[in-house]
Amino acid sequence: MSSTTLIAVGLVLLCSSLAALARPSIEELKSRAVLDDYESNVVFGYNIVMETNKYAGRYTGSTLACTSCHLKGGTQPNGFALNVAGLYPKWRSKNGVRNGLGLRIRDCFLYSLNGIMPPEESAEVQAVAAYVHYLSEGQAIGKAPEGYSVPTLPETGSDPDPARGQAVFKRACTACHGADGHGTAAAPPLWGINSYNAGAGTHNVAKLAGFVWANMPLGQERSLSHQEALDVAAFIYIQHRPFDPREGRLRKLAEKIYRSIWGGDQTKSSSK
Ligand code: HEC
Ligand code: HEC
Repeated sequence: MSSTTLIAVGLVLLCSSLAALARPSIEELKSRAVLDDYESNVVFGYNIVMETNKYAGRYTGSTLACTSCHLKGGTQPNGFALNVAGLYPKWRSKNGVRNGLGLRIRDCFLYSLNGIMPPEESAEVQAVAAYVHYLSEGQAIGKAPEGYSVPTLPETGSDPDPARGQAVFKRACTACHGADGHGTAAAPPLWGINSYNAGAGTHNVAKLAGFVWANMPLGQERSLSHQEALDVAAFIYIQHRPFDPREGRLRKLAEKIYRSIWGGDQTKSSSK
């Protein structure tokens, strides 16, 4: 055998053994006739993340899906990727307790989806937790994975300016998110009654700017300058959105009345 043949045979063997080690894709899991308990939870969790209102609608209150922010089902580096199981449990100043993965997931239902907190033992939380574990296979425990969260933008020397941000919004965002920012069939709302509420992690100029710079406009990621990303984030930040649920039930009631009078398109048909 020549040395080139030997190398070729070696490569084939290496590739097939790597393939055997790799975790099965969601598509592959879905095509199997039989799934074990963990695998069927992974698939259900994936479905919830992709089409939240269809698969976990009883706990949601917006037209967003988890994948609206946790891009590509939580697989996009610098797009709030969800391969984070190894970082939990961890202490969070937001609620002042050590958060297990379940509580962290439930928090996103309450704030990011402006919904209600599902119980820890609900099928939905268990399934999403299984999916997060699946995404985290192979990650080191206690160490933030590559592309964790979103980039922190450097100081630009100029404060984020909503007026300049409005111009960026009109030029670069309205085609998909709508002239009024309330979303279209192509993209979810950035503000308004069907968006995330004021208690959400995204309701933060620095974090939103990092997300926008790294991921928006979709298809032209990283085309905005840091300043433009900060400005458009400041513009989005000052728009009206659902109240922070920690601010009290009375305000929530006001929101409910507002919805019942002016509708607020709660069809939940859009998973975007
Ligand atoms: C409006 C945007 C948005 C939506 C919608 C959303 N999240 Fe999040 N989520 C965030 C942000 C922001 C963070 C904080 C990430 C950070 O600080 O790096 C987060 C954090 C998380 C974390 C912890 C990740 C980490 O970095 O430690 C999990 C798990 C999570 N979300 C699950 C979900 C699930 C499940 C859904 C759907 C039921 C959902 N999220 C919907 C914005 C969102
Ligand atoms: C080509 C269409 C397109 C353009 C242009 C675009 N977006 Fe998006 N955006 C999307 C889609 C689609 C999603 C949801 C991701 C998904 O479902 O895969 C999204 C999600 C978001 C989110 C998180 C979810 C939410 O609704 O809050 C923010 C914030 C956001 N975009 C901001 C912006 C900003 C700011 C601009 C302009 C600088 C912009 N986008 C331009 C398509 C677009």
